[in-house]
Amino acid sequence: MSWITGIARAEIRSLQAYQHAAWEPGLVRLHANELPWRAATDTSEAGLNRYPEPHPHALATRLAQLYEADAASVLACRGSDEAIDLLTRSYLQCGRDAVLITPPTFGMYAVAARIQGAGVIEVPLQREAGYALDPRALLAAVTPAVKLVYLCSPNNPTGNRLERTTVLELAAALAGRALLVVDEAYVEFARAPSLCAELAAHPGLVVLRTLSKAHGLAGARCGALLAHPDVISLLRRVIQPYAVSQLTIEAVFRALEPGPLALARERVALLVSERERLAAALAAHDSVQRVWPSAANFLLVEFTDAGAALERCRAAGLLVRDLRRAPTLQQALRLSIGTPEQNDRLLASLP
Ligand SMILES: Cc1ncc(COP(=O)(O)O)c(C=O)c1O
Repeated sequence: MSWITGIARAEIRSLQAYQHAAWEPGLVRLHANELPWRAATDTSEAGLNRYPEPHPHALATRLAQLYEADAASVLACRGSDEAIDLLTRSYLQCGRDAVLITPPTFGMYAVAARIQGAGVIEVPLQREAGYALDPRALLAAVTPAVKLVYLCSPNNPTGNRLERTTVLELAAALAGRALLVVDEAYVEFARAPSLCAELAAHPGLVVLRTLSKAHGLAGARCGALLAHPDVISLLRRVIQPYAVSQLTIEAVFRALEPGPLALARERVALLVSERERLAAALAAHDSVQRVWPSAANFLLVEFTDAGAALERCRAAGLLVRDLRRAPTLQQALRLSIGTPEQNDRLLASLP
């Protein structure tokens, strides 16, 4: 057994996966206790009276094509949140193991670890260096308990991309010790290559992608975990059979047809140009102290009085994210880029 599965929980390594009903679409299904008729309201292609494919192969293959990876390296799941949950439950033993995170960053890595009863080690990003990684401090903090190291690039909520060569050096340095999980939820807005191309060279690298952001499918709940096929096989024992619903599978296939895909790419381009317009307008605003450069679909903005800015937005009917309790961000709000009209409204609402 190689180290990438050898560091997983012993119970998961020896787990006998649930034996789901056989998937043989050519035959009449009298083996899964389903109703033979569709519900009156069912407009799906396949029929919601039937369970979906337990581990949807065609979906994984389509996602692999989208992310330019091998199908054996892809696990389709209910958003990257489920990918984080699966990694946590498979690799962290309660009371013994830990994750390493780099705050300020996406909250789910730590929440999932705490739910599991695992530890959370923090190595802050360096604010004075534009929230860059501190690779030396990070490696020094990797104790034998650390099984997962999470990086987010572009990072939520700071918006910056982490240096690719630094991330790959970390992947190499962590080999044999911990998986390096790089969350690329926002990479489409960065106009930079994904780390998916590096999976073959770094067996301990895991990349998280999602259809929630650039593809506009947050409500469908679909993401992908990309990793070495051995890690994928291990996680398939833990993911629920039928995790991705038939409605979601069909929605994803429709969204990834050439026409919708081209539209999604046009919208990413529009969003990126709106991000730059909004950043420039905010930077010139009296109530704004600092607009951090962003490679994502949001801006991290520090105000002279974030509470007042938050109230003005709310009064104008706009919800923005309050980050005042995040480390180093006492006067910061996170503003998602909206349509040009919404962005104008946001600018007009500020004190
Ligand atoms: C960095 C990051 N990762 C993952 C997620 C969750 O994405 P999903 O909708 O794929 O579960 C988010 C959601 O905001 C996020 O910001």
